[in-house]
Amino acid sequence: MQKTSDLIWQDTQHQVLFELIEQIKVVPFDPEILQRLKLYAEHHFVLEETYMRELDYPHFESHLEAHDRFREELAAMMETDPSMHKSLQISLSDFLYKWLKLHVLGIDKQLEEFVLKSKHK
Ligand SMILES: [Fe+2]
Ligand SMILES: [Fe+2]
Repeated sequence: MQKTSDLIWQDTQHQVLFELIEQIKVVPFDPEILQRLKLYAEHHFVLEETYMRELDYPHFESHLEAHDRFREELAAMMETDPSMHKSLQISLSDFLYKWLKLHVLGIDKQLEEFVLKSKHK
């Protein structure tokens, strides 16, 4: 994935998320990968949410709602049959990849700009 942010922590974490999402496609499917993605996404979202709270970010609520939608999608996927077919692995991975790409190049960029202007980089 191209560079997503001038905040090193934010870009590094996004890159790890994209790599984990790519691994959903690996055959045979390893259900552990969704667990690892869940833990890492939670770590990343909580950090962004902490910045938003600490900096009184004006778009906190809508950004939090977007993170919550990802959390819900992932929770639903984790109930999927671990012996799922390759085509389902690809569609789950593609869905999450597209969602994340839109998110990091959209509302995460607004947050990045706000954080870069603040004194808490
Ligand atoms: Fe992010
Ligand atoms: Fe975000």
